[in-house]
Amino acid sequence: MRKQDVIAKLLPATRLPVCSVAEAFAPSNIALSKYWGKRDAELNLPVNPSLSVSLGRLGSHTRLSCIDAAQDEVLLNDQPVAEDDSFSRKIVSYLDLFRSEDAPRLRIETRNNIPTAAGLASSASGFAALAKALDQLMGFNSPPAQLSAFARMGSGSASRSIFDGFVEWQMGVREDGMDSVAVRLPANWPALRIGLLTVAAAAKPVGSRAGMQRTVETAHLYQSWPLQANTDLEKIREAIITQDFTLLGQTAERNALSMHATMIASWPPLLYWQPESVAAMQRIWQLRAEGLPLYFTMDAGPNLKLLFLEQDQAAVSAAFPDLQVVAPFVQP
Ligand code: DP6
Repeated sequence: MRKQDVIAKLLPATRLPVCSVAEAFAPSNIALSKYWGKRDAELNLPVNPSLSVSLGRLGSHTRLSCIDAAQDEVLLNDQPVAEDDSFSRKIVSYLDLFRSEDAPRLRIETRNNIPTAAGLASSASGFAALAKALDQLMGFNSPPAQLSAFARMGSGSASRSIFDGFVEWQMGVREDGMDSVAVRLPANWPALRIGLLTVAAAAKPVGSRAGMQRTVETAHLYQSWPLQANTDLEKIREAIITQDFTLLGQTAERNALSMHATMIASWPPLLYWQPESVAAMQRIWQLRAEGLPLYFTMDAGPNLKLLFLEQDQAAVSAAFPDLQVVAPFVQP
């Protein structure tokens, strides 16, 4: 099904702004049990459910304002982005899904406070903030599940960035994807810490969208992924409910490495790791062997996200002095 057709079933035919300015924030998120592979590339419907933790105040802030101009204007971190840049084109075609042709053009200002070098997906928080701001501007009053589905149409992982805390993106079964939405889990974990470890700032050669498509199409190993992902998600959920950090860390790390195994088994091979990534993994395993409860997860890039508890923060920061530590459940 086309995105336009799904949206047409949910929103009125005439869609015009009800105010001239709207703004919204959405957090970045880190998947503890990953989304890798689509059953529908048009709607970003996943092969498996996933579970993430949102990063509190780290994310994207988006402001939309109606302008008297023939074209939309896109700004990223206060810098104008050219109309033919892929970033602008993605945003404009996303907006076009939700507005009437005669709607006024918009200035879209996005600011990310995520360290860009950390290789954190800003598309997740970016599309979630855009979906929220647009919903206000157009007066759609979408319930959270619908907002999550709208954000998903921009980027799969954005479905989870609609919410704070632990978030589960249910895969759903419907053809129109309207049951493929994220929900916030009713649990907090104030002592949980996420460390953003930047080992290499180089732009990734293959983005997650193309990377997951290649894996699904070429890696035999991918057949084992849905089972692994479903089993891991159950374990992560249980770890959160029982606050079992060992179960959380072990499952998240193994889930990430299993995902990377399917990438490596693709053709041409997809290896997002740099030598520094492997060195960091080995350091973590060494520290763990010495008794430090420290685990990691990784996405489609060379950097690591460390998982540990508040009580071990000093030891972890001593081992990784440049670590940026996030406390997702602590109000600043
Ligand atoms: C490895 O959400 O960026 O970070 O749906 O094509 O936009 P698209 O992909 P995207 O993929 C994220 C993949 C991941 C794992 C995850 O966040 O679950």
